[in-house]
Amino acid sequence: MPRLYPSWHSFFMNTTNFCGIDFGTSNSTIGVFNDSTPTLIALEDGKLDMPSTIFFDEHEPAPLFGREAIEHYVDGNHGRFMRSMKSVLGSSLMSTNVGGNSLKFERMIAVYIKALRERAEQQYGGSLSKVVMGRPVRFVDDNDSKDAQAQVSLEKAAKLAGFKEVEFQYEPIAAALAYESTLDSEELALIIDIGGGTSDFTLIRLSPELGKKVDRSADILATSGVHVGGTDLDKQLSLTRVMPHFGYKAINIRKPTMELPYPPFFNFASWHLINTLYEKASILEIKSMRLDVEDKHLIDRFIKVVERREAHLVALEVEAAKVGLSDAEQAVMNLGFVDPDFLVSVDKADFNDTIMANVDEVVKAMNDCLNKAGISAAQVGSVFLTGGTTAVELMRSRLVADFAGAKIVDGDKFGSVGLGLTLHAQKVFGS
Ligand SMILES: Nc1ncnc2c1ncn2[C@@H]1O[C@H](COP(=O)(O)OP(=O)(O)OP(=O)(O)O)[C@@H](O)[C@H]1O
Ligand SMILES: [Mg+2]
Repeated sequence: MPRLYPSWHSFFMNTTNFCGIDFGTSNSTIGVFNDSTPTLIALEDGKLDMPSTIFFDEHEPAPLFGREAIEHYVDGNHGRFMRSMKSVLGSSLMSTNVGGNSLKFERMIAVYIKALRERAEQQYGGSLSKVVMGRPVRFVDDNDSKDAQAQVSLEKAAKLAGFKEVEFQYEPIAAALAYESTLDSEELALIIDIGGGTSDFTLIRLSPELGKKVDRSADILATSGVHVGGTDLDKQLSLTRVMPHFGYKAINIRKPTMELPYPPFFNFASWHLINTLYEKASILEIKSMRLDVEDKHLIDRFIKVVERREAHLVALEVEAAKVGLSDAEQAVMNLGFVDPDFLVSVDKADFNDTIMANVDEVVKAMNDCLNKAGISAAQVGSVFLTGGTTAVELMRSRLVADFAGAKIVDGDKFGSVGLGLTLHAQKVFGS
């Protein structure tokens, strides 16, 4: 005879208090179990991913997030715009200035993660106290203690954001779990995740049967990763095509044997360092370069952009051109907000030259993964691609070039990792 439970019982049984969070350099997702199915939360206007951005408006107490934060900044509101906060983890940067106060990056990341949690709780209707956070295979290349420190900082941020229990899983393993949930037979798969900040690989045996295990260490043949991603491509494109219009590589007329100082241009071209341009010492350094160049207009432009806090706008144009080149032979960056008719065009061949060294580094990291496992490309059954930067034609073609015999699967570029982290959270925290 079936036992009858009071109605609250089934409600209780279906309520889980855990989630998975893919805190990405560029975009983030959060997933929960809904009716026993891992589900990504619609974070913004029905969209499952939310840009990892915050805008602290000078005149508003509450920060804005995601696309709303970008729009607010682009519309010219005054305040501090943050993007690529994850790139700061494991670096020596500790804090930034927000509204005249110093705000620690851990706290800032916590503010963002809390927004993810609250949006998820609102839709899900329950409270979320446990999380599996994704992490890249390497936050920091070639420095184990800084790499470990990065995870400690992210854990602190998750706790500050209100999570009581925090576990970590490698992002490419999470992507593998998401892919595995679609399989009906065993495969030796190479999982490739090329995101905004890092490129991650795992070689793993997958099958519906293996997927039932909690501990997958016996199935993971190797992992590897390198701190190179889409934001590095933006940086290269900016340094080669855009920064020269702001004085980069101009001849120093006072000391012709010396170049202009590199840091201001490097900071301008690097998403997570742009805000450092607005510090007093940096503004003085930029202004002092005016004396060094013949064409003062170049540095005047730089000063104008810094004074108007428009450096992120330039970076957004650079990124948009890069994205445009995934589908077109040419792209134009419209910098008309700096100077009238200031347009910079770039074609795909130039772009490919610009990013070649970065692509080489990523391919090398992939080969490291195969070598660590002692597996040749011919032995790999399937190659699963995820992450926004797999859309870059040269990157994708170089990555899959040696796998003629394998099944090439293009996964959900922005959702696979979050879904896999949610699946993993069910194994770790579900009863
Ligand atoms: N169509 C496209 N063509 C080229 N690049 C793209 C395209 N779409 C997105 N990108 C780039 O992909 C990157 C973001 O990818 P993704 O969301 O996978 O990264 P992330 O998960 O935030 O970063 P990470 O995993 O490294 O922390 C950005 O650099 C973005 O410019
Ligand atoms: Mg990612």
